Amino acid sequence: MDKLIAVVTGGTRGIGLAIAESLVKRDASLAITYKGEDKDAVNARRHLESFKKDNQCILTLKGDAGDSGVVAEHYNTVRSKLGPVNILVNNAGIMPARSFDEISVQDWDETLRVNLSGAFYWCRQVVPDMKATNFGRIVNISSLAARGGGVVGPHYAASKAGMLGLTRYAAKELGFNGITVNAIAPAFIEDAGIFAQWTQEKRALLKEKIFVPRLGNALDVVRAFEYLLDSPFVTGVTLDVNGGAFMI
Ligand SMILES: NC(=O)c1ccc[n+]([C@@H]2O[C@H](COP(=O)([O-])OP(=O)(O)OC[C@H]3O[C@@H](n4cnc5c(N)ncnc54)[C@H](OP(=O)(O)O)[C@@H]3O)[C@@H](O)[C@H]2O)c1
Repeated sequence: MDKLIAVVTGGTRGIGLAIAESLVKRDASLAITYKGEDKDAVNARRHLESFKKDNQCILTLKGDAGDSGVVAEHYNTVRSKLGPVNILVNNAGIMPARSFDEISVQDWDETLRVNLSGAFYWCRQVVPDMKATNFGRIVNISSLAARGGGVVGPHYAASKAGMLGLTRYAAKELGFNGITVNAIAPAFIEDAGIFAQWTQEKRALLKEKIFVPRLGNALDVVRAFEYLLDSPFVTGVTLDVNGGAFMI
């Protein structure tokens, strides 16, 4: 593939930003999306621009990845400014902690809409262009919670498990078009999401759940992503990036 053109949803911080950085270093032009935090978007753009060459372009697009109309608009913008996308990373996710006692129907719907429907909406946009060029890489950022249940709640576990079904179905249908579709199931990534706010003492407790001497970081997820990017014979898999926690 001559020119890499990528979309990373939720690319303004954490895991999404680390993946976006890896893509910029590989000479991709890309769009990162976000919903709420303009300050993060400005910082992310500045950070990514520090790695880019003159022929690369970086877009930041604000809007809800769980809204099919917004996703269609975003894709039109990406297509007209960068060209047809050949790499999609469905990373945007929310994780409001709710037990069965606490969860409302609204919590359930919102989490499924952003985490799972959003990934489907983006796939739907990019697949025709990937088919047209016989090349594509789709990577869905799931979670240990998809198979282990996790601690966030039923809505989050179900949304992340749904991503694995979407991944495997899409991998089967799209493989003959040169499009691979895979998932990464991270956990305990200490420099991203909720764990980044935790104290060292609180993080130390997480180490009891894993089988390696340290917690994960966004770069560990980037390594898995780069492997999938470079592996045309690997499709439909879920890479566990969680210090062995899946074995519990
Ligand atoms: N950190 C971990 O240990 C861990 C473990 C397992 C799985 N994951 C998964 O990894 C992914 C990234 O998580 P992270 O830890 O890097 O989280 P994070 O730091 O909270 O980043 C989330 C990103 O998604 C964006 N976002 C949130 N809601 C959105 C929406 N409706 N539309 C578009 N963008 C939206 C956020 O931007 P705004 O806030 O500005 O909208 C931000 O850019 C998530 O899918 C998460 O479930 C993380």
